[in-house]
Amino acid sequence: MIGLGSDHGGFQLKEAVKAHLEERGIAYKDYGIYEERSVDYPDIAEEVSRAVVKGECERAILFCGTGIGVCISANKVHGIRAAVCSDCFSAKLTREHNDANVLCMGGRVVGPGLACLIADAYLDAEFEGGRHARRVAKIMDLEARG
Ligand code: RB5
Repeated sequence: MIGLGSDHGGFQLKEAVKAHLEERGIAYKDYGIYEERSVDYPDIAEEVSRAVVKGECERAILFCGTGIGVCISANKVHGIRAAVCSDCFSAKLTREHNDANVLCMGGRVVGPGLACLIADAYLDAEFEGGRHARRVAKIMDLEARG
């Protein structure tokens, strides 16, 4: 299950990626927003991130104008490793090396076609473990030590 969430700046991009997931037969849960209205991105980032930490969703994709606001917010939730990506290489590698459980994109940065390719690169990649597991464990230790 892939969680989706956006503010107004990312709404259209969320809708485009949602339609793409539907075409691919990938299960998703849309946490909103459900219409284009002004909201505060930390609220939706928190809701979706907590759903990931609780295991309600395996991973999530968050959208705002730049992808940065939702990314910063999501990374404040313990257990979240969120990465903002505007290219397929970074999206694939953030899964393989960082075990990112949240992908963030900006509706004012990337177009819908590229966003769907970025989502595919992220969703189709797997964490490689090995030396990367040691590094991710160090990230989580940093978080635990505050
Ligand atoms: C909203 O105008 C905008 O600030 C937000 O979508 C996002 O870009 C923040 O990082």
